[in-house]
Amino acid sequence: MLPGKVEHVLLTSEQIIERVDELGRQIRKDHPNAELTCICLLKGSSMFFCDLMRAIGSPMRMEFMRAASYGNSTTSSGSVKILTDLDADIEGHEVVIVEDIVDTGRTLDKVIDLLKGRNPKSLQVVSLLNKPSRRVVEVPIDYVGFEIDDHFVVGYGLDYDDYYRELPYVGILNLEG
Ligand code: PRP
Repeated sequence: MLPGKVEHVLLTSEQIIERVDELGRQIRKDHPNAELTCICLLKGSSMFFCDLMRAIGSPMRMEFMRAASYGNSTTSSGSVKILTDLDADIEGHEVVIVEDIVDTGRTLDKVIDLLKGRNPKSLQVVSLLNKPSRRVVEVPIDYVGFEIDDHFVVGYGLDYDDYYRELPYVGILNLEG
């Protein structure tokens, strides 16, 4: 059974699409001559990634990586494992990591550390959502879609127990509901 219920829409589909278009244009402008390697951190950033890649709209390589932080359904424990690694070599390439949300920062910290060791020409991060109040590890984020307060959010790729990713908006989940 579907766990909980979405009690409030935090970001509408229209707000998200408009902001993703802005982010895409900005990234394209900042890398006018580059063939970017964009990395989708599965599964959460999948929907954002597809829309953002269309918004960037310049020649690029798309890569996929899966990092999972372990803990219960709403909080991470601090242990991050790489479950699926990249196919491509990123040495000398301009790389953009695409995240759906930065919460404690642990996932991104681990991924940045790993990818830096592979000597990319540059390494940037774009995250649709940022929850600075929850940060445990400081991580650099070059492009942020929206800063949000400490709500448990689902939709547009974000899940609770793998549910709700398909929603076209970002909503606040009420688990009592
Ligand atoms: C979520 C989210 C980020 C990470 C953020 O991933 O997609 O990658 O947590 O949390 P942090 O800043 O505290 O590390 P999750 O491990 O839940 O996997 P998913 O993307 O498959 O949902």
